[in-house]
Amino acid sequence: MGFRIMVFLAALMGVTGSASVTIRPESDPMDMSAHPNSVPETAENTDVFGQQKVPIEEEPEEDVMEIGELNPNHYPAQRAAKAVQHYLNTRYGSPYRVFGLHKVHSGNAEDVADSGRKYRLDISVQDFISKSTENCSAEVLFPRGEQQQQRRPQIQASCKELCKINTKAQEEALYQQYKNQSLVAAHLPDSYGHIEPDMEPLWHLGTVASSFIMLNESTENTLYNMAQVANVTQLETENNQLKFDYHILLHEMVSQEIIHWKLLFSWSPSEGVKVLQMEQLPHCHDCEKPPDTN
Ligand SMILES: *[C@@H]1O[C@H](CO)[C@@H](O)[C@H](O)[C@H]1NC(C)=O
Ligand SMILES: *[C@@H]1O[C@H](CO)[C@@H](O)[C@H](O)[C@H]1NC(C)=O
Ligand SMILES: *[C@@H]1O[C@H](CO)[C@@H](O)[C@H](O)[C@H]1NC(C)=O
Ligand SMILES: *[C@@H]1O[C@H](CO)[C@@H](O)[C@H](O)[C@H]1NC(C)=O
Repeated sequence: MGFRIMVFLAALMGVTGSASVTIRPESDPMDMSAHPNSVPETAENTDVFGQQKVPIEEEPEEDVMEIGELNPNHYPAQRAAKAVQHYLNTRYGSPYRVFGLHKVHSGNAEDVADSGRKYRLDISVQDFISKSTENCSAEVLFPRGEQQQQRRPQIQASCKELCKINTKAQEEALYQQYKNQSLVAAHLPDSYGHIEPDMEPLWHLGTVASSFIMLNESTENTLYNMAQVANVTQLETENNQLKFDYHILLHEMVSQEIIHWKLLFSWSPSEGVKVLQMEQLPHCHDCEKPPDTN
């Protein structure tokens, strides 16, 4: 738990402090890391459920878009790879399987006439529960122009042994346990970055479900992380599907905004997570503050 707490607090500090955004002096032409789209190398994927440990150091220039071979540690490759992470969670995620981006090995980008920009990536993803890491190759097309407002990135991914650890028995047991309940929980994790062990499946479920939002909202200009489950209420089971109403806080790393979403979804071992409704909640200044970290 210790590691997770540390990472979560680091993520929160990134949230609160615009002071953590340092702009490097532009006068040093030899400083290769001062590329406008660079993500500091130290930010390499020591994250928990996609929470980046080290705050991003520089404001990216949104109109700088790379073509051709990409630096794996820079924003363009990282953003496209993050979309793949969310995609994998929407397809294969469960209370016992949550994928995070582990590393971008290589990537390139090209403009595709009229439809957008296509990224080809070699990445590795890690299942945070089993800790197993797998390589995937993926294509991500960010739609452009008129289509951009309506369409989420289109993603294809092939990973060799993504789901080699069988979680069916655990899922079935959890399903039976939750079926008769009407759970209520708040602040996962709490102000200290702590999650009670029996609440972890609810956090994992919320993380997987949030990937549906983050995938849908991902563009070449965003980098979303799950920050917290503000609260969750279990609704009545319908058609053998458990139903949950989540209030979720997402952290957008580029704008440093905390964005609130209401998310209604169902889950069962056989059907997986199905989103019934997602709604971005209006900005409110009282809830803008992340949980008190003192
Ligand atoms: C994943 O790919 C990287 C880079 O291509 C390679 O070094 C590593 O051994 C691969 N890992 C696995 C588990 O195949
Ligand atoms: C995904 O986002 C688009 C807008 O970008 C929205 O129209 C659509 O309803 C969203 N999908 C869901 C399932 O909410
Ligand atoms: C749930 O309810 C069913 C029938 O009402 C019962 O057979 C089962 O033992 C209950 N399970 C739990 C975990 O309470
Ligand atoms: C859930 O949390 C949000 C944000 O803190 C709050 O506005 C909302 O009232 C809470 N809902 C419940 C049911 O506690």
